[in-house]
Amino acid sequence: MEKKRIGFDLLIFEDEAELSQNDQKLLGAAEEARKNAYAPYSRFKVGAAALLENGETVIGNNQENASYPSGLCAERVAVFQAGARFPDVAIVSIAISAASEEHVVDMPAAPCGNCRQSIMEYEHKQQSPISLLMKAEKGPIFKCSSMADILPLAFDNSFLGDS
Ligand code: THU
Repeated sequence: MEKKRIGFDLLIFEDEAELSQNDQKLLGAAEEARKNAYAPYSRFKVGAAALLENGETVIGNNQENASYPSGLCAERVAVFQAGARFPDVAIVSIAISAASEEHVVDMPAAPCGNCRQSIMEYEHKQQSPISLLMKAEKGPIFKCSSMADILPLAFDNSFLGDS
């Protein structure tokens, strides 16, 4: 029996000032996008900003629905928009900002499982990593250098025999 431990480096910043100028800017765009989230049911607002290789920033925010599963998370709104508008441009980095209207969120919200899978698709498609920057309204900032870090053993098109 072989045993393998899978791990990754999570960077934890206590203050936004420790981030690069580019990361600060991208996080700012995610925070701005969060303000337009449509989250009347959960009152949990999320903003996402994706920086593309061509310098464009594409934003998203969660869009909820009275039929709950019909809504979509901020991250997927952002990456699907990036895919729709710039199909041949790689995504370099995604910043995510989360806040609740009900309570103080002081730990970064990492993307949900469905968003991880969706973002992983683009990482696989473009053959380059997408770094993730996560922050709540308070507390530390998390950064990881690839979606593959937080979605190990991912399912991708190689299983379908068409990679
Ligand atoms: N949500 C996001 O938009 N991104 C996440 O990373 C986690 C959850 C949204 C979905 C739903 O509108 C609300 O937050 C509560 O789950």
